[in-house]
Amino acid sequence: MRKIILCLGILVMATASLNAGSDEQKSLENEKYKNILNQAEQLYSKEDMHKALDKMALEITEKLENKNPIFVCVLNGAIVPMGQLMTRLDFPLQIDYIHATRYGGKINGGDLKILAKPKSSFEDRVVVLVEDIIDTGKTLKSVIEYCYAQGAKEVLTASLVDKLGTRTEDGLEKVDFVGLEIPNKFIIGFGMDYEKYFRNLDGIYVMPENEIF
Ligand code: IMP
Ligand code: MG
Repeated sequence: MRKIILCLGILVMATASLNAGSDEQKSLENEKYKNILNQAEQLYSKEDMHKALDKMALEITEKLENKNPIFVCVLNGAIVPMGQLMTRLDFPLQIDYIHATRYGGKINGGDLKILAKPKSSFEDRVVVLVEDIIDTGKTLKSVIEYCYAQGAKEVLTASLVDKLGTRTEDGLEKVDFVGLEIPNKFIIGFGMDYEKYFRNLDGIYVMPENEIF
């Protein structure tokens, strides 16, 4: 009996020390990301973002208000811009999503892995892919090819941010609707992440270079 109590005691103590370890780990991580945010320089404020989204919404409305389009959120980055853009549009439209990732840096359609497929039929529809940022343009180019392969009549692209000077030959050249243009820096906020953090920031910040690994 004594032995059993002793074993149980050891087990309880070991579990407690493991939990303390993971709490400590979490609090260290919290400090790390707070510290990054303190150092990050703001590139665009909340007001700038709202102006950019208003401009995109106007241009999109002019071109698509009678086209009955499907807007497709390219997960995860487009979650924030998509929601804020959609509430600025007041014509008939539908909403869907796609979660796609590329294999090994190549770009043709076969390199695209679809983690979550859209539920709607794209047959004969105008599809608008909504992105947070376009960098090399490879992801969007592959997703466009996928949409055409699903029977879309026309595929257009809307990206909150267009990174300048980073496009590669095998990437999409031009985005149809752009909110803001930025120089070649790594940015966070408004959907864009570093190590899955900062998507929630209500503005765009430059990631401090000494913190990028
Ligand atoms: P692309 O295929 O090179 O155009 O990659 C586009 C994707 O890379 C975006 O949808 C983002 O998820 C990610 N990305 C590219 N640049 C940045 C950045 O500066 N901050 C955060 N994510 C970025
Ligand atoms: Mg993205």
